[in-house]
Amino acid sequence: MKAILLAGGKGTRLRPLTLHTPKPVVPIFDRAFLHYQIDQLKQVPEIDEVILSLNYQPRRIEDVFGDGTGTGVRLRYVVEPAPLGTGGAIRYAAQHVTDTIVVFNGDVMSSVDVNAVVNFHRERKAKATIVLTPVDNPTAYGLVETESDGRVRRFLEKPNPDEITCDTINAGIYVLEPDTFDRIPKDVSYSIERAYFPSLIEKHDMFVAYIDRGYWIDIGTPEKYIQVHHDMFDGKFSGGVFATADRTQPIVSPEARIDDGVTLVAPCFIDAGVHVKGGARIGPYSVLGRSVLVEEGADVENTIVWPNTRIGQGAVVHGPIIGRNCHIGRNAVMKSAAVIGDKTQLTDYTTL
Ligand code: GDD
Ligand code: MG
Repeated sequence: MKAILLAGGKGTRLRPLTLHTPKPVVPIFDRAFLHYQIDQLKQVPEIDEVILSLNYQPRRIEDVFGDGTGTGVRLRYVVEPAPLGTGGAIRYAAQHVTDTIVVFNGDVMSSVDVNAVVNFHRERKAKATIVLTPVDNPTAYGLVETESDGRVRRFLEKPNPDEITCDTINAGIYVLEPDTFDRIPKDVSYSIERAYFPSLIEKHDMFVAYIDRGYWIDIGTPEKYIQVHHDMFDGKFSGGVFATADRTQPIVSPEARIDDGVTLVAPCFIDAGVHVKGGARIGPYSVLGRSVLVEEGADVENTIVWPNTRIGQGAVVHGPIIGRNCHIGRNAVMKSAAVIGDKTQLTDYTTL
């Protein structure tokens, strides 16, 4: 069985972070996002290949995973000549595949048991199975109504507030039978949500829903990107470093350098190559990426800092996401959930 990870979107809602780092490889703590999905797929013994469906900045994604050694799965990259939309991308990536396929949107983090979903799909002899998750506000997602027997009655992508009839939405995780893909037109953009799923309903194909009430989040906006870090710090989702780390203590790489007189307040995460200088304070919900430098007396809290950024002496940084290779000047003050792009220079004493 193959899995396809849809990882070709532009990640516009995470700009400017995604200008140089495509969304599928934005770091979540110390690992590129797709690592978490690959780990989840490894729980399905039948999956013998993971296909990354790429379009936007494919090289930057290939650079992260290389030939797949280190992921523990066989990886294959399929790069579309032009963005084909979610449906077109699946058909394009699934050329020559005849067996059942597991598909993930390349930006959802969840605790769903993929084996159970595959088994459910088989028991129901379904053409398509979709995982649903309950959310408070479905307008940003695909609303899915189901019958009492689990069949999908209606799929409505990005409903208006007055169209909301239930709280279950498309979690972006599917099991599909490729013999239905001939209805996806070739070489044009085609949406699985707006066209393929409605077509299954129209043609009365066996299209069923698997409702999961476990952890689920789409990391595609700054708010959700911060949220997933908080949730992992709080133990609502564990994966990556949190599979083993003690969340009640600061998590500090053995290859980080913490000078005398530094205050670390859990939960916080400090990656390899980081240097925190004397008198600095790293407060709760801080994430310092590889080789970040925090200078004397700086105060960092509730902030995600991407690799190679420098936070100057006495700076106060509470709340933002800061990209790579930035320099936050001496005594600068940032107290908001601002999103700061790579290579930003903030002059000394700037207040944001
Ligand atoms: N290869 C490829 N080509 N991938 C694409 C393309 C494309 O043309 N367009 C989008 N993708 C990928 C994105 O990278 C992302 O991983 C996934 O498809 C979904 O696209 P998003 O842009 O993140 O969609 P969304 O979040 O607005 O809505 C989707 O996800 C929701 C759950 O998070 C829909 O599937 C909704 O129905 C769903 O509820
Ligand atoms: Mg999304």
